[in-house]
Amino acid sequence: MLITATISELKSHLPMPSSGKQIGFVPTMGALHRGHISLVEQAVNENDTVVVSVFVNPTQFNDPKDLERYPRNLEADLRLLEETGCHLVFVPAVNEVYPEPDTRKFNFGDLETVMEGKHRPGHFNGVAQVVSKLFDIVQPHRAYFGLKDFQQLAIIKNMVAQLQLPVEIVSCPIIREESGLAMSSRNELLTADERKNAALISQTLFEAKKLITEKSVPTLAEWITETINKNPFLCVEYVEIVDSSTLQPVENRNSNEEIVCCVAVFCGKIRLIDNIVF
Ligand code: PAF
Repeated sequence: MLITATISELKSHLPMPSSGKQIGFVPTMGALHRGHISLVEQAVNENDTVVVSVFVNPTQFNDPKDLERYPRNLEADLRLLEETGCHLVFVPAVNEVYPEPDTRKFNFGDLETVMEGKHRPGHFNGVAQVVSKLFDIVQPHRAYFGLKDFQQLAIIKNMVAQLQLPVEIVSCPIIREESGLAMSSRNELLTADERKNAALISQTLFEAKKLITEKSVPTLAEWITETINKNPFLCVEYVEIVDSSTLQPVENRNSNEEIVCCVAVFCGKIRLIDNIVF
């Protein structure tokens, strides 16, 4: 496994396009957990060469405190990656990715005016900036993203369509802790008590899925909010029940459309997201 911080070294180890070798790419911000590892393992199974990037992208953080406390543990990340059989790890410094400030403004229309886009202004523009740059460097055939970041996946698919990039976006299932809590690098920032209580988020979503035929959509959203907020460790930022392709809120259940319930919940100071397809 080659570890490099420079674009030129990374490129010198990528297979030539004429070789016909398939490149799989997993972009990450490090603090790797089983969720990330499942993406890398899938990439290793489906491609000849796998590149993982570990880069905490400053342009996607709308809150400087969040950027500062984002967990970083490169040594542990590299140990985990070594076991996956991935070939190249790209660990650039900020000025390698952004030698000049990135002033590009993307427009994702209604996809970015809801949920994370509404509550974290500029977040998805930063995600699109870094992912488009990384795609340009790595030139992957396939790139792997987790469904926990449901809206991020929709944004990235839209970006790939807008820029007509020749990359297949592979959506991978949410990996959960035994308690049901969706795996996230941010879970590391929770105290033991917070982590235990945070499991109520997913447990409530699983319960809600059973209730979808009994309650109207607005009543169900209210029930989810109230159930989570009853726990003193938790405070709901939003509960949205949306169409899974347009991400627009739905008022009624329509058997033709797939709907997904997305939530953002503060557990103490730590903001967690999760979702479930109904
Ligand atoms: O999902 C993440 O970890 C990040 O948003 C990504 C896709 C690596 C871009 O920085």
